[in-house]
Amino acid sequence: MMPLRNRSLKMFTLALLFIITITSFLLNYTNSIVSTSWDPKQIAYQFSEQVKKLLKYSRRPCSCNTCILEQTSAWFDERFNITMQPFLTTQNAFIPQESYRWWLKLQGERSPKGINETLQEFFSFIPGDWEHLSERSSSRCRRCAVVGNSGNLRRSQYGQEIDTHDFVFRMNKAPTVGFEPDVGSKTTHHFVYPESYRELGEEVSMILIPFKILDLRWVISALTNGTINHTYIPVPRKIKANKDKIMVYHPTFMKYVYDNWLQRHGRYPSTGFLSIIFALHLCDEVDLYGFGADSKGNWHHYWENNPSAGAFRQTGVHDGDFESNVTHTLASVAKVRLFKGR
Ligand SMILES: *[C@@H]1O[C@H](CO)[C@@H](O)[C@H](O)[C@H]1NC(C)=O
Ligand SMILES: *[C@@H]1O[C@H](CO)[C@@H](O)[C@H](O)[C@H]1NC(C)=O
Ligand SMILES: *[C@@H]1O[C@H](CO)[C@@H](O)[C@H](O)[C@H]1NC(C)=O
Ligand SMILES: *[C@@H]1O[C@H](CO)[C@@H](O)[C@H](O)[C@H]1NC(C)=O
Ligand SMILES: *[C@@H]1O[C@H](CO)[C@@H](O)[C@H](O)[C@H]1NC(C)=O
Repeated sequence: MMPLRNRSLKMFTLALLFIITITSFLLNYTNSIVSTSWDPKQIAYQFSEQVKKLLKYSRRPCSCNTCILEQTSAWFDERFNITMQPFLTTQNAFIPQESYRWWLKLQGERSPKGINETLQEFFSFIPGDWEHLSERSSSRCRRCAVVGNSGNLRRSQYGQEIDTHDFVFRMNKAPTVGFEPDVGSKTTHHFVYPESYRELGEEVSMILIPFKILDLRWVISALTNGTINHTYIPVPRKIKANKDKIMVYHPTFMKYVYDNWLQRHGRYPSTGFLSIIFALHLCDEVDLYGFGADSKGNWHHYWENNPSAGAFRQTGVHDGDFESNVTHTLASVAKVRLFKGR
C-alpha cells in the first residue's frame, strides 16, 4: 500500500508544480500589461515554495529531530563529500596512488612491507564486511557522541547524557572507570593506533587509525604470535581486542579530511578531528563532548592532574587552532552540537 500511495502523491505534487510553474510564467508575462492590486504571482510563488518544502520534508534523510544532511550550509557542502568511505572494507581495500604516497610519508618507515599483501593478510584474518554501517536510510535515527579527552569534562556531569547515544566514540588512552559521572560508561567504538592503545571491553569495536603499514601488521601480530613489540616506541606485544569487531580507518578518508576539512593545515589531522569527520559520515546527529580547552584555557586530558600539560597543542604535528575553528564552525552551522563543559 505505502509505495502506491507515495507514488500517487508524488505524481499529484509534480502535476501541481507543473501547473504552478505555467501559471507563474503566464502571470509574469501578463503582469507587465495588467497591473493588479493583489499579486497572484507572489501568491503562486509562495505556494510553490510551500510545496517544495513539503516535498523535501517527505524525503527526509533521517528520522531524528534534526539530520546532519538537512541543515543547509554552503560552507559545509564545499567540504563534505558523501561518496567518501570512512573505513576499509574488503570491497574498498585499495588506496589510490595519490593518497597512498601522502599517507606513506606521515610516519616514514624504513622498509615498509607491501600495502596490498598486508591488506590481503589483514582481511583474511579480520572481517571487513562493514558496508552496511554507512548505508543511510530515512527511517534511521543514529545519534552519536564523540567524546574527546579534554579537561573540560571534569565536573561536567555529562555522563548520563553521553550514554543515551546509539554510538559513543572514544579515543586513545581515554578511561571511563572512575570518571563515569562526567564521561559516561558506554563505549561502542574506540579509536586507537599502536602507540595509543589501551585494553578495550569485549563489546567495544576497536577502530585502528593506521599511520603506517607497520600499524596494520601490528594488529595481526598482537592477536597472534606477538612478534612486534616496538614501532618508534614500545607497543603492546599482545592485545585482547575483540577481533570480530575491529575496523580500520581508511587512509584515503584521512587524506580527504586533511584536504577538504583542514585545507592542509598541520602535518596531518589529530585523532580527535579524524573522529569528528568520521562521525559526520556515519551518523544522523553528532554531539561533541570533551573538545577544546577547559574554562581556564588549559589543554590537558581529563584524567591528568597537570592542567598545563598542553600535550595536544605542542606536538607540532597537528594544527590545533585550525581544527578548533572548523569544529566551532560545524557547530555554528548546526551540523554538530558542541558541549563545552559546565
Ligand atoms: C568526491 O569524492 C569522489 C571520490 O573520491 C570524487 O570522485 C568526487 O569528485 C568528489 N566530489 C567532490 C564534489 O569533490
Ligand atoms: C595495489 O594494487 C592495486 C591494484 O589492485 C595497484 O593499482 C597498486 O599499484 C598496488 N599498490 C602497490 C603499492 O603495489
Ligand atoms: C608470526 O606470524 C607472522 C604472520 O602470520 C609470520 O609472518 C611470522 O613468521 C610469525 N613469527 C613467528 C616467530 O612465528
Ligand atoms: C622486543 O623483542 C625483542 C626481540 O624479541 C627483544 O630483544 C626486546 O627486548 C623486546 N623489547 C621490549 C620492549 O619488550
Ligand atoms: C574561523 O576563522 C575564520 C578566518 O580566520 C574567522 O573568520 C572565523 O570567525 C573563525 N570561526 C570561528 C568559529 O572561530
